[in-house]
Amino acid sequence: MGDMAKKIVKLDVSDLIRVLNEAYAEEWLAYYQYWIGAKLVTGQFKKGVEEEFLEHAKEELEHADMLANRILQLGATPVINFDELSKLAKCKYESPVNEDSLSLVTQNLDSERCAIGRYQGICEICFGKDHETFRIAEYILKQELEHEQEMEDFLRDISTAKQYYQKQF
Ligand SMILES: [Fe+2]
Ligand SMILES: [Fe+2]
Repeated sequence: MGDMAKKIVKLDVSDLIRVLNEAYAEEWLAYYQYWIGAKLVTGQFKKGVEEEFLEHAKEELEHADMLANRILQLGATPVINFDELSKLAKCKYESPVNEDSLSLVTQNLDSERCAIGRYQGICEICFGKDHETFRIAEYILKQELEHEQEMEDFLRDISTAKQYYQKQF
């Protein structure tokens, strides 16, 4: 913990830590949602969805790591009780009850859109007031925007393929 790290933040540090812990919890849920989705996915798009989900899972875990480091730097503790993760998260975990790629990708697209709102919010709170948290949130936001785009691309490919098969058979 750095005293100066806290001193230079022109925000209520305890409010900031609460928000960072919510985002941290959301990243763990996002990680697990992709990871378990990659295990469960079935159907024609299995291979591509599995690869993309595992790549995203890795990035969500990196986001959790960045947030944990920042929380520690600010003299606080990342969530230590596993049950608290789902309670704290505003972007909720959506259980992948349907293993079809269309359903999994749609659920993860919703989660990405929630994450975009989360980091847009943190950027707005921190702009000009906490350069380091802003830098982290801006970096994560860029990746969440890419994730959204990739999920949208998958949905487009899936619906194009479905239309093609419907015409053929
Ligand atoms: Fe993330
Ligand atoms: Fe993401």
